[in-house]
Amino acid sequence: MDRSAQIVGWGTYIPERVLSNADLEAMVDTSDEWITVRSGIKERRIAAPHESTSTMGICAAEKALTKAGIKGSDVDLVISASATPDYLFPATGCLIQNAIGARCGAFDLEAGCSSFVYGLVVGSQMIAAGGYENILLVGAETLSRFMNYQDRSTCVLFGDGAGAVVLQACKKPYGIQAFELGADGAGCELIMLPAGGSAKPATEETVRAGDHYVHMVGNQVFKFATLTLGSCAERVATKAGWKLDEIDLFIPHQANLRIIEAAQKRLEMPMDKIFINVERYGNTSSASVPLAMVEAIDAGLVRKDQNIVMVAFGVGLTWAGVAMKWGVDA
Ligand code: ACO
Repeated sequence: MDRSAQIVGWGTYIPERVLSNADLEAMVDTSDEWITVRSGIKERRIAAPHESTSTMGICAAEKALTKAGIKGSDVDLVISASATPDYLFPATGCLIQNAIGARCGAFDLEAGCSSFVYGLVVGSQMIAAGGYENILLVGAETLSRFMNYQDRSTCVLFGDGAGAVVLQACKKPYGIQAFELGADGAGCELIMLPAGGSAKPATEETVRAGDHYVHMVGNQVFKFATLTLGSCAERVATKAGWKLDEIDLFIPHQANLRIIEAAQKRLEMPMDKIFINVERYGNTSSASVPLAMVEAIDAGLVRKDQNIVMVAFGVGLTWAGVAMKWGVDA
């Protein structure tokens, strides 16, 4: 079968409010120096009170549709990739579907920070199988709603934002050449939002204990991430039949500069082949790879026929990687 799926439209939304390291110094016992040295992050964006995952996702989606030259009514499936949906239900995908004027199926995909890259694989496979022509994939997060701004070990790392792409049917050789979806549920407690689900519904007690906030064992996640990011990139590139020096651009999940630098060493890749914007947004989870991808496109770093690798990792634990041959003029 020579049917594949390629990215033909893209867009982002970034909330206006900037939360700098200096702002955080006034909120918790931390310093610009600690945050910069340990994570590479200088600032992150925070959604306004009237904004949420769906509203930011809709803004990004509208730009992606315009770029693709299609209308909402041309979309035949909406996938919302997020760990911070508006509600447990209804699906944020349905809110986005309604707002863009699509009349098609819609669902949420939750694989922590890997959700967007999982979504690239799921959407591409559904198109390749012949069931769909245009899939809207949105990666949006409002992590600030789940941060304890008294917990310095988490609140300095995360931020809000959204990115969206239109996946469209195309002929090979474009689109995903190889992929990997991974999970290790044994690490599920390393990053967790303990309360608010069916296992531990919200009560006065859970709120008092702060169990509606993100809890994270940072240094163990760090070990997992440093092992996973570079090795997954290597595996998908090899599976695609590419030598590592044939990768034109590596777009990693933007969680921590040190994690990206560890991958760079493993891949022996020049830094200018790795797109990094973690310093301006922090970790935006499912929005991180599309935010980086669109900024790379805007910077003129993405061109037709290039070999692009994207890898994300996160809560679950999960990871996902794709080796993609870029098929359109960006
Ligand atoms: N400011 C100052 N000191 C701090 C801060 C802070 N913001 N946060 C923690 N510390 C202190 C700790 O209390 C600890 O002090 P102690 O030694 O007196 O106990 C010390 O700094 C070292 O803490 P570590 O956690 O060992 O520091 P580490 O070098 O591992 O860096 C970090 C911490 C940045 C969290 C790192 O572990 C990391 O990036 N982990 C991965 C996190 C991640 O990527 N999570 C997201 C993946 S999933 C997703 O994307 C949703």
